[in-house]
Amino acid sequence: MSILYRSDAPRAAAWARYFAEHAPDLDFRVWPDAGNLDEVEYLIAWQAPAEFIAKLPRLKVFFSSGAGVDHVDFSALPKHVPIVRMVEPGIIDGMVEYVTLSVLALHRDFFDYVEAKARRTWDPLEVPPASSRTIGVMGMGSLGSAVLQRLSSYGFNLRGWNRSLREMDGVESFAGPDQLQSFLEGCDVLICLLPLTPATKGILNRELFSLLPAGAALVNVGRGPHLVDEDLLEALDSGRLSRAILDVTEPEPLPAEHPFWVHPRVFLTPHVASMTQPESAAPILLGNLRRHQRGEPLSNVIDRSRGY
Ligand code: GLV
Repeated sequence: MSILYRSDAPRAAAWARYFAEHAPDLDFRVWPDAGNLDEVEYLIAWQAPAEFIAKLPRLKVFFSSGAGVDHVDFSALPKHVPIVRMVEPGIIDGMVEYVTLSVLALHRDFFDYVEAKARRTWDPLEVPPASSRTIGVMGMGSLGSAVLQRLSSYGFNLRGWNRSLREMDGVESFAGPDQLQSFLEGCDVLICLLPLTPATKGILNRELFSLLPAGAALVNVGRGPHLVDEDLLEALDSGRLSRAILDVTEPEPLPAEHPFWVHPRVFLTPHVASMTQPESAAPILLGNLRRHQRGEPLSNVIDRSRGY
């Protein structure tokens, strides 16, 4: 029984150690030391290039090493091969940290103080209570709902928008395109944690920005193509939006000449909001693999037609 890891190299050793210790019956291989590819039944990978998948005739399950699967070529994977996305505590905790940090930094005007310090200006701003701010999260899946849960401990007003209605204690829920406008009208900070699909591509655009309260801030931790870059620049320059915190861009890496690099109100990080942590992900993946071996249903299988 062979399992092949073909993802982020620096974290490969931690995955291999876990499997050696907890699943000695499984032949855990790390790319490019893949041995005979005919024997590979399980694949842990970020992408599924067609010419590579074609070399794995006995592949049974594709485990995505990331939470998002938008970059996976579904058509390269035979229909009988389930695609499992990464849902694990490490990736959730990382996202909760990043979004909480972003929301608190915006709420407490940290970016304004960075600018004030550069001007050597001692300029105290009002400190409004968290209860005077509304934070909206687009996408109430495993990441979005964990973010909302944590933000609730600070006392913010919370809103969530999802494709289909998700009820959550302490969160005002909105669903589908019909309720997008009423959702947006109240959001002082908008967080995008949507999966990237044809329906969500370009959703962060001029029209959406025009529905937010003037001076709202955007945090994009979804995918670069959710955002229409020119529309964001226009919204920032007109003052419609106050700031944007972007962890994802299109393309990645962001080319050196892109205006986001020098825009004073864009804060940029290089797709580091959250990463799969082998220590917490390996036990979850192994548990799922064991379920498959016993003929039980796998968790976190994506719906190919929905795209996530
Ligand atoms: C990272 O962006 C992931 O999808 O895990």
